[in-house]
Amino acid sequence: MHVISVANQKGGVGKTTTTVNVATALAAIGQRVLLIDLDPQGNASTGLGIYDRHDTPGIYNVLLCDAFFKNVTHQTEIPGLSLVSAAADLAAIEHDALEMERKQFLLRDSLEQCEGLYDYVLIDCPPALGLLTINALVASHSVLIPLQCEFYALEGLAQLMSTLERVQSNLNPYLDVLGIALTMYDPRNGLSDLVVKDVRKHFGDLVFKTPIPRSVRVSEAPSYGKPVLIYDVKSAGSLAYMNLASEIMKKQGITDVIAA
Ligand SMILES: Nc1ncnc2c1ncn2[C@@H]1O[C@H](COP(=O)(O)OP(=O)(O)OP(=O)(O)O)[C@@H](O)[C@H]1O
Ligand SMILES: [Mg+2]
Repeated sequence: MHVISVANQKGGVGKTTTTVNVATALAAIGQRVLLIDLDPQGNASTGLGIYDRHDTPGIYNVLLCDAFFKNVTHQTEIPGLSLVSAAADLAAIEHDALEMERKQFLLRDSLEQCEGLYDYVLIDCPPALGLLTINALVASHSVLIPLQCEFYALEGLAQLMSTLERVQSNLNPYLDVLGIALTMYDPRNGLSDLVVKDVRKHFGDLVFKTPIPRSVRVSEAPSYGKPVLIYDVKSAGSLAYMNLASEIMKKQGITDVIAA
């Protein structure tokens, strides 16, 4: 079981879109995938068709009320893709977990229940570096960083990297950066290309080869409660997310070989 956090404290960079569509692509190629929505906004939950998420027990119940994963996990319409939803109650975690001894380990401890049940667990993080994202990073083997192809793309990345280093040295020495995924790439916009070049220059092979194009189909899909891969499988966005998922699997294969 490989646990991946999709994280970037910058808002609106494509975390949820990437989590939902990479999860779908991995499931489509036969992997058993669990998507954990760890954002009180619950965008991944609605994007996968859970509309009554405020009345549905979700990840808050697992983290703070001793609910079992198996009792809050939904089978989505995509075979092989399961989901644990999130609702606004999750925003209170900083306060509700204040007195808890292992508050940074809540997700890691409870994820032990899922060992052997999934090939991949993908965690959609909120746009902040608070306790929720720390819980995700502590529970993960690796982190996938979506980066929007726009002028301020690199802003905030230094802060994210230093958070990752702090988690690595204090809480989870096994955390690895899986890669940086370029999102909302627009080839007609010269700035997009400049950003891509700049990011590749800074981060080299850490950047995935496949940029995710900006596309109306990608942004429309969540309003139908579907990943773009189901909404319009032939769209450029779907193809890009399939390629990204296959890069992720390849990268991991290589990591596994090195580890062996
Ligand atoms: N490739 C794309 N093409 C067009 N629109 C996109 C694309 N990727 C994401 N979007 C749109 O951009 C917005 C932000 O995307 P998304 O919700 O995935 O970002 P996020 O990082 O999860 O945001 P937040 O920080 O609020 O959680 C959404 O409206 C989404 O539909
Ligand atoms: Mg989001």
